[in-house]
Amino acid sequence: MTTISEPFDQRTLRTFYGRIPSGVLALGAMVDGEPLGMAVSSFTNVSLDPPLMVVSIRNESATWPLIAEAEAIGASILAESQEECGMQLSASRSDSRFDSIGYTVTASGAVLIDDASAWFEATPSDPIPAGDHSLVLLTLRSISHGGDRSPLLFFGSKFAAVRHD
Ligand SMILES: Cc1cc2nc3c(=O)[nH]c(=O)nc-3n(C[C@H](O)[C@H](O)[C@H](O)COP(=O)(O)O)c2cc1C
Repeated sequence: MTTISEPFDQRTLRTFYGRIPSGVLALGAMVDGEPLGMAVSSFTNVSLDPPLMVVSIRNESATWPLIAEAEAIGASILAESQEECGMQLSASRSDSRFDSIGYTVTASGAVLIDDASAWFEATPSDPIPAGDHSLVLLTLRSISHGGDRSPLLFFGSKFAAVRHD
């Protein structure tokens, strides 16, 4: 076992956080008639009543403030075959993130990625400051799932798949 005490350098901390396995969520909404979105892995479920999830968003994110204004945000839990989609939705250019990606726009303007593992539509809270990120509570408005499609995982700064024995 190796123990490192604070102050931490960012790389060490990033590597440590990378040891926490997560899914990959594609957040998206229609803004001025165009789909806008971003990939996030810092998310989890919080509450059953009311139905709440939380995401952690970089304070410098240019995309978040734009999609947060939408009536509803679409969230797609990417499937294991959607690695490229995860990369594309985190690209620095935001205007081509949805190129060649199939998606569906809901009545409330949320953008859901086709063939994902599960989806929800949510209303975001105001951001709650949390260091260089902000926490946003997502109140669920609808949930759906794609049957038995396995989710894409993110672990050790790489994409991974669930092992089914
Ligand atoms: C696998 C993966 C996980 C990510 N998780 C997060 C996250 O939890 N929070 C976040 O703010 N950005 C996260 N990002 C980065 C955003 O996708 C990326 O910064 C953003 O879409 C591009 O910046 P913009 O918001 O300024 O357009 C992640 C990227 C990848 C590839």
